[in-house]
Amino acid sequence: MLSKYDRWWRDAVIYQVYVRSFLDSTGDGVGDLAGVRAGLPYLKKLGVDGVWLSPFYPSPQHDHGYDVADYCEVDPVFGDLAEFDLLVRAARRLGIKVLLDVVPNHCSSEHPWFREALDAEPGSPARARFHFADGRGPDGAEPPNNWHAMFGGPAWTRVADGQWYLHMFTPEQPDWNWRNSEIPAEFDRILRFWLDRGVDGFRIDVAAGLFKHPELPDSDDPGADARTRDSVNPLAWNQPEVHEVWRHWRSVCEEYTARDGRERLLVGEVSVPTAREHAQYVRPDELHQAFFFDLLGAAWDADAFRKVVSEAMQDIAGTGSTVTWVLNNHDQVRTVTRYGEPAPGGSGLGAARARAAALLMLALPGAAYIYQGEELGLPEVVDLPDDVLTDPIFRRTGDRARIRDGCRVPLPWSGQASPFGFTSGAESAKPWLPQPEYFAEYAFDRALVDTRSFWHLYRDGLQLRSALPQLGEGTLRWLDTPPGVLAFVRGDDLVCAVNFGTTPVPAPVSGTPLLSSGPCPAGVLPGSTAAWWTDDSPTP
Ligand code: GLC
Repeated sequence: MLSKYDRWWRDAVIYQVYVRSFLDSTGDGVGDLAGVRAGLPYLKKLGVDGVWLSPFYPSPQHDHGYDVADYCEVDPVFGDLAEFDLLVRAARRLGIKVLLDVVPNHCSSEHPWFREALDAEPGSPARARFHFADGRGPDGAEPPNNWHAMFGGPAWTRVADGQWYLHMFTPEQPDWNWRNSEIPAEFDRILRFWLDRGVDGFRIDVAAGLFKHPELPDSDDPGADARTRDSVNPLAWNQPEVHEVWRHWRSVCEEYTARDGRERLLVGEVSVPTAREHAQYVRPDELHQAFFFDLLGAAWDADAFRKVVSEAMQDIAGTGSTVTWVLNNHDQVRTVTRYGEPAPGGSGLGAARARAAALLMLALPGAAYIYQGEELGLPEVVDLPDDVLTDPIFRRTGDRARIRDGCRVPLPWSGQASPFGFTSGAESAKPWLPQPEYFAEYAFDRALVDTRSFWHLYRDGLQLRSALPQLGEGTLRWLDTPPGVLAFVRGDDLVCAVNFGTTPVPAPVSGTPLLSSGPCPAGVLPGSTAAWWTDDSPTP
């Protein structure tokens, strides 16, 4: 399908811009679209194919823009539509694709349709756009079912006239009722609004959501979503009807592609229990891609990594799509910390592993997503004081261990002290989350001149990826390796090997070294290191 187009997305490397933390052009401490535009040359230098912009729509920001009050506008804190147009134009000139984040499962409680629903009668058409229901028990004082919200607490909130509405995240994020025909029609309009403004596609939030079981029955394990923070309630997610929506959205994209030959991309945030279910979302007439989070979820262990890579290749490759690899995003603890660096100044193990994981990801067949700051090797900021935390997970559960603010701290660009060039405002301008002093070590200006930096590793990896035909889309063949080591061949002769252990092993090939994540003496693969070679004597 679509083979006459360039299929750029199949092995694209996309950079996730968390707009409020990227670059602030106005001095209010919050990143904005003009900041993104100013940063585009930096992303060009890094070598990415496109950017995905986190939500910048008008929003009361109860979940940092994933509570959308107006889907076809820009929140003044981030700029305006004219600035958005400039950004798209600048990106096009640089050959950088622009993906927007669309949030179809829920909106903001400030959305005009939800406000209208609150003012309307039970049973009215305005309420039918959401899931309003009577409660149970005496006076309907118990919620209509026992589901819990993802971020803690019941999934239902009661309104003044006694009815309840459903929200799978926070009460400020009422879920749309996709069985009401006005909702698909409205999203059709929203997609076209942005496609007409020139975007190259969409990252779809909670793409296994949208539909709930039509009877909204009780769940056998109502707390499972909040406990696992995975969408596992089988009655609230992954309903068969959602696939119809993705088929329609694909057809809208193809309508635009047929007009101008530019392929548009739909990439879904699909959290479903198995790789096989995941594969259903990327059938040839549905989403082009869906993030494959199992790599992100895998512990630093050769067997765990091999299992997720093999499953992905087996289940997803069969659909005709390509696997979409992710190691970091705005919801997860950054790799440097996740793989073992509890605080900066530690042994360096987490950083070494994160570098190795990056080379592994960039060598895998398919597309890859890089989350801003990953290319600087930023660790998670684990010691933010309670009074600056904004993540609704903290507000609703008090659970410090799972907050997402630590990976959202504004980027350090230059200099020795906060705001590290993040905000162009006065000296007194404060980034919306405080940057730790140690961010000085990670600042972009330093990374640029230090050839051993994360930034150089990512840049070199991306350059090789676009230069070498073995990388990107294609097949993967595992090589026999000792325990704790993974090695695979791409194309005929490109070998990527990773030593997950801490002691050196003999290099699995004798070949020409191309790139390594750390010092790599000839014939040796040190611990916590990945390397790429071209194999001069391929194993038969
Ligand atoms: C997605 C987003 C996350 C947001 C949630 C609710 O998982 O990545 O940041 O909180 O959806 O919209």
